[in-house]
Amino acid sequence: MKIPELCLVALVGVSGSGKSTFARKHFLPTQVLSSDAFRALVADDENDQSASADAFAALHFVAGKRLAAGRLTVVDATNVQPHARQALVALAREHDVLPVAIVLDVPEDECWARTQARPDRDFGRQVISRQQRDLRRSLKHLGREGFRQVHVLHGVNEINTAEIGYEKLF
Ligand code: CTP
Ligand code: MG
Repeated sequence: MKIPELCLVALVGVSGSGKSTFARKHFLPTQVLSSDAFRALVADDENDQSASADAFAALHFVAGKRLAAGRLTVVDATNVQPHARQALVALAREHDVLPVAIVLDVPEDECWARTQARPDRDFGRQVISRQQRDLRRSLKHLGREGFRQVHVLHGVNEINTAEIGYEKLF
């Protein structure tokens, strides 16, 4: 896939779909703003869901500073809910930067198997099922929500073999 040299990338995928792994492989650590890292920054615990509002406020603030400085920014959060994506589209527009969605669409069984194997995740399968339902509902709306590019990677193989190139758009 080719993405603009300067854009706001929203990774979209349920927990365990491999967003953080994908971000590590394709982007600089400093380009990636993860909701987990911001929960840890504001609440000392990356799993503290009660810290989400503050964590996202801080994440959006930093993302805005990066975009204002013309730096490619990747948001590593599930982004399966419309309001989460809407905030990112608005932020990108505010800074005249193109919002791009990269969707990691991985079968729920695989995501759940991975989650069970993780020491740092302790929620139940219903959390992933709910996210998967949100994702299914979201897929056909992403373009209309304002994302200028929507790249959907279907399944583990497409995700593992994906390559990212850059295009100059201005
Ligand atoms: N994983 C894997 N094979 C892949 C990608 C990920 O086995 N191709 C494993 C990772 O090593 C990790 C787990 O699956 O243990 C979840 O991957 P991660 O990238 O952390 O998923 P996220 O989507 O970031 O999950 P979360 O939303 O919970 O942060
Ligand atoms: Mg992650």
